[in-house]
Amino acid sequence: MTPTFDTLPRHLAVIMDGNGRWAKARGLSRSDGHKAGTEAAKTLVSECRTLGIEHVTLYTFSRENWARPKDEVAFLFDLLVRFMKREMPSLIEQGIRLRILGELSELPLTTRQAIKMAVDRSAKGNRMTLNLALNYSGRDEILRACRALAAKGLAPSAITEDAFAAELYTAGQPDPDLIIRTSGELRLSNFLLWQAAYSEFYFTDTYWPDFGTDELHKALAAFATRARRFGATGEDAQHDRAPAGDES
Ligand code: IPE
Ligand code: IPE
Ligand code: MG
Repeated sequence: MTPTFDTLPRHLAVIMDGNGRWAKARGLSRSDGHKAGTEAAKTLVSECRTLGIEHVTLYTFSRENWARPKDEVAFLFDLLVRFMKREMPSLIEQGIRLRILGELSELPLTTRQAIKMAVDRSAKGNRMTLNLALNYSGRDEILRACRALAAKGLAPSAITEDAFAAELYTAGQPDPDLIIRTSGELRLSNFLLWQAAYSEFYFTDTYWPDFGTDELHKALAAFATRARRFGATGEDAQHDRAPAGDES
């Protein structure tokens, strides 16, 4: 059953954490944890699409994740390629457009090729944008934007918030209204530093592979109760979100 919500985030971002601990608790390998994590991601994406959330961002691989054992990194990229190949027809059928946030040039060639194909094939999707933050670093994204503005030779007064945001990977997309992090960690880990300025946060102890539709609904229900003030007083607090069911 899909519940209705008074207000929904236009943009939901998720730090999918806890695959390794989920696996360890079951005597499984970290790879098994990551595999189970992709299933949870698939479920979340479809449910967000059904609910009418316009933008979903999944933190898939941080630039800092290169510090993991080579085998684990290779497995993650291999899993991503297989996942994209398997799931693209369904994503396209659901009208979902795939975007990547992150530095692609540093990724293995086979990964880049699969990404390019998936991004191109889904480009016409107009029901939802699915951003995969891949080889992503919030600080690096900010530096890239600075360099791009410097290269344009802008006058200092022309460096506005809008001009800056237009150089970020998320250019043209709204900031995340809600950021969920699973597995009990209470930090951003270099995720969407600029864009999170006024995001609401939802933390849960649940490990990512166990984060199902009921948990998503709980997070969305919590979000619907939040009074977003954007610096104003309580009286004129606004809910800067699309009404439930608005799929325009
Ligand atoms: C999140 O799960 C997936 C990635 C960061 C790729 P982890 O692999 O970080 O799982 P834990 O935090 O070790 O449990
Ligand atoms: C954040 O999780 C990155 C992803 C979910 C892809 P990490 O597990 O890498 O974060 P830290 O190291 O615990 O901060
Ligand atoms: Mg982790």
